Amino acid sequence: MKVTIVGAGNVGASCAEYIAQKQIASKVVLLDIKEGFAEGKALDLYQTATTLGFNTSITGVTNDYAATSGSDVVVITSGVPRKPGMTREELIGINAGIVKKVSESILEYSPNAIIVVVSNPMDTMTYLALKATGLPKNRIIGMGGALDSSRFKTYLSLALDKPANDIQGMVIGGHGDTTMIPLTRLASYNGAPVSQYLDKETLEKVSADTMVGGATLTKLLGTSAWYAPGASVAYLVESILNDYKRMIPCSVLLEGEYGLKDICIGVPCIIGANGIESIIDIQLNAAEQALLNESAEKVHAMNTALKEIL
Ligand code: 2OP
Repeated sequence: MKVTIVGAGNVGASCAEYIAQKQIASKVVLLDIKEGFAEGKALDLYQTATTLGFNTSITGVTNDYAATSGSDVVVITSGVPRKPGMTREELIGINAGIVKKVSESILEYSPNAIIVVVSNPMDTMTYLALKATGLPKNRIIGMGGALDSSRFKTYLSLALDKPANDIQGMVIGGHGDTTMIPLTRLASYNGAPVSQYLDKETLEKVSADTMVGGATLTKLLGTSAWYAPGASVAYLVESILNDYKRMIPCSVLLEGEYGLKDICIGVPCIIGANGIESIIDIQLNAAEQALLNESAEKVHAMNTALKEIL
């Protein structure tokens, strides 16, 4: 199985690293527009194969889409990351043109690929990739919810002082500081509702920390995060290539599900060989649905900025 990662920056390189280390694919191609950059990252990563014991081949190319031909999955990380103090939404002007061009170029050489969108503002870029390519909705997956859910579970594990892998939970809505919705009501410590162990104020703080999870890291690192984003992409790609049918919150085109239409936004999806196999209705309560509606309004407003490019 072949995976192409467009953009060999921090997120792209981390994706490649996790996919190779876990041998999720047999071939990984890193593509970047900066001369020699993807080649360098790929060679450095491939030189870890003998030490770490993986067989995945990793190659890098400068803007050569022919080398990506026949990819089963293509991950788009290209564009600029945010700087401290910036919102993801502020990146739309630069990233929209890049994501449109990249998604069109990919399909020339990999007409059957499933596309995973990472570039920000992620929900709007997912919508753009969908409209620009005309692909069916199952083949364009926005990865934000996978990442936001991993941050939510991490903050819950820290608050509970329990192992992260004993925590279940998910974040739906937009992948933005004010649009994501950590579902605390449904989060559990091995099946027991977390509300049995954490009071209301602590749960509110966990939600607030989750929502600014990316911004906190951007402030600390001086640029956008990469380990958790890279791992979240690898988790999604693994579910596609192995047809695991994991339930993962992803940004997907809604056509009436959750009462929403003509928008890509995070909801729980079954991720398998066909990409988005189905959307799961988790029966939100009225307050959660109201938050989702509010989040969708903000994402819709952001999408209107695409009118000029589509
Ligand atoms: C983040 O939240 C990259 O948007 C990504 O870290």
